[in-house]
Amino acid sequence: MQNAILLAYLAAAVLFILGMKRLQSPATARAGNRQAALGMLIAVVATLLIQELLSPVEMIAGCAVGATVGLLLARRVAMTSMPELVAVFNGFGGLASALVAGAEIARYLVAEPGGGAFARVAQTSATLAPLDAPAAVIGALCILIGAITFSGSFVAFGKLGGRLSGNPVSFPGMRVLTALILVGALAAGGYLIYGAGASFAAMDMEAILWGTLALGGFALALGVLLVIPIGGADMPVVVALLNAYSGLAAAATGFMLDNTALIVSGALVGASGLILTSIMCEAMNRSLLNVLLGGFGGDSDGGGPAVEGAREDLTAQETSVEDVAIQLTYAEQVVIVPGYGMAVAQAQHQVRELADMLQARGVTVKYAIHPVAGRMPGHMNVLLAEADVPYDQLYEMDDINSEFAMTDVSLVIGANDVVNPAARTDKASPVYGMPILDVDRSGAVVVLKRSLRPGYSGIENMLFYHDNTRMLFGDAKDSLTNLAAAVKNL
Ligand code: TAP
Repeated sequence: MQNAILLAYLAAAVLFILGMKRLQSPATARAGNRQAALGMLIAVVATLLIQELLSPVEMIAGCAVGATVGLLLARRVAMTSMPELVAVFNGFGGLASALVAGAEIARYLVAEPGGGAFARVAQTSATLAPLDAPAAVIGALCILIGAITFSGSFVAFGKLGGRLSGNPVSFPGMRVLTALILVGALAAGGYLIYGAGASFAAMDMEAILWGTLALGGFALALGVLLVIPIGGADMPVVVALLNAYSGLAAAATGFMLDNTALIVSGALVGASGLILTSIMCEAMNRSLLNVLLGGFGGDSDGGGPAVEGAREDLTAQETSVEDVAIQLTYAEQVVIVPGYGMAVAQAQHQVRELADMLQARGVTVKYAIHPVAGRMPGHMNVLLAEADVPYDQLYEMDDINSEFAMTDVSLVIGANDVVNPAARTDKASPVYGMPILDVDRSGAVVVLKRSLRPGYSGIENMLFYHDNTRMLFGDAKDSLTNLAAAVKNL
């Protein structure tokens, strides 16, 4: 039986890795997701067969409750709120790891004479090896990382959804307090490890108990203090980092429980979360340290004053639906640049409809996808896939940038920061150095947005005042619906 379970875990690990590989391309991503889900099903079924602590009925009941909550949440959540959902999932993952480690440590405590109410658990514990120092180190790591992930993720959840202020929060002495709490957490962990390793025959139960509780408390406080000083604009990066933490906590839990599937899946989540964090930082030309300490950006709704002309000395040129329809119809090549505003307006189906009409008239239509357009990795890909936009029309930044010079019209739909030329030219700009889509090099640029308000970074965009740029103000979905109607009538 043991070998069969190990083989099942191996199969699950292979399916996870193959599934993740297929996530690299939008064309194979759905199949990859299904493959990884099958791997998880195999791992869960194999774990049900171990029957160490809980009966299969109890475990199936737990899975059913978890799956129902997950299903309801995933069905209800709007695509723009997906980072919040991921934050909650990470948080619960961290909490689960911390609780499992706590329960494992409790098993040793109640195994002592007088375990009483925990008699059933204590019975199992009779077969346990003593909680030695190495096991206690792993347990302490699980609790530390798991509890930081839990409280940090819920702060990120609050900031992303506007339940907490998206502005960076700090107070005098905050860094000192954070450092002191970190020292406290390390001391509590040390006390727990000392308790476990004090004497092989007789562990210091009190040290283990108080060390564990204090470590959990300090770690929860650390999670809050590490995330509140980070601006709402950087929350997606924080969520990716916390995702990595939740993976590390799960892997540590796997070592504690001696469960191969948990070690492998935790390591995969940890590594992919770290890679994703680094890709996001690179795409914004920021270092991780700058994200964690920088206090960059504010509320995540693209905030800023709602002035129509942010620059009084410059005038942005407004255009009309009819003029844009003519421009698009007579173009040879149109590049569509979607951004967060397309997600807010849920305008992906209207984008596709307009593109279909233009293509039917012989216009070449391409989509330019910036790696951090929107609010989560792959945000634009997911929305456009939902509208059945063919994958071969989607171009990544590096592949499309050289084409803008040969493009008649760039249609910027609710994108702002990712097309801000200041990133190329203005050394004083906070976005300087961030790779952008070079729409300003195309023959004409039409920007669909509601006002001249800045985007996520809160920085004004000089593209709106360029000679070859025209602004089509309004909600992106309404503008696109009107554009499609106007193109139809031409
Ligand atoms: P943003 O720069 O945030 O600009 C979005 C624009 O959409 C806003 O200026 C807003 O202007 C417009 N908008 C909002 N609702 C709209 C609606 N209903 N109809 C039309 N327009 C609407 O978006 P972006 O260009 O996609 O850039 C993404 C930003 O997020 C970058 O700064 C990036 O660094 C940051 N970020 C992204 C990620 C990931 S992984 N994607 C992670 C961390 C940070 P109005 O209010 O005037 O309409």
